[in-house]
Amino acid sequence: MHLRIGFLASHNGSNVEAILKNIRSGKLEADPRIVITNNPNAGIIDVAKRYDVPSICLNDNKHSPYSSLDDAILETLIESDVNIVILAGYMKLLGTKVINNYKNKVLNIHPALLPKYGGQGMYGMKVHEAVIASDDTESGATVHIVDPEYDHGKTLKQQIVPRLLHDTAETLATRVLEAEHQLYSDVLKEIGEGRINM
Ligand code: GRF
Repeated sequence: MHLRIGFLASHNGSNVEAILKNIRSGKLEADPRIVITNNPNAGIIDVAKRYDVPSICLNDNKHSPYSSLDDAILETLIESDVNIVILAGYMKLLGTKVINNYKNKVLNIHPALLPKYGGQGMYGMKVHEAVIASDDTESGATVHIVDPEYDHGKTLKQQIVPRLLHDTAETLATRVLEAEHQLYSDVLKEIGEGRINM
């Protein structure tokens, strides 16, 4: 499958940047078609510019002329000829129209070993703080298929990140993010080469 990727992100976009870097260097064969963000001040807009990928801001205040944000996102993905949707730090629940139209073709990355430390309200540092407060000896990252529930769809691949003796939520978060950067491209490569069946 030749990947024509639509990205959705709300913040820095370091995961998107890691994927774009791998595409640019030829490590990953894919076509980045569009970056969609809900946050007009997100760092991801700058990342998209640097990699010459078109970007658009769509949120609840701004999705004219479409009837809903879900419609606006879906139309944008279709117009951009996207065949796989990559969520990377996208802080909104995706609408059912997008999920149903791109059935099993919407992926998310989560900074923990799901099903642990997932679900509504479990994002960012909250995840790492919960791991540090637990007796767990490892954390990691998960790429999964998106369904209408937060952090719920089928897991495609995980990367374990050991917890070190003196880890804080911050030091653990840094290593998990590094693992995410590798994991997302690995999953995309495997999908592109038909080694992960969607
Ligand atoms: C990542 O930790 C990702 O797992 C989570 O949000 C963070 C996004 O980071 N869903 P970035 O915007 O890709 O730097």
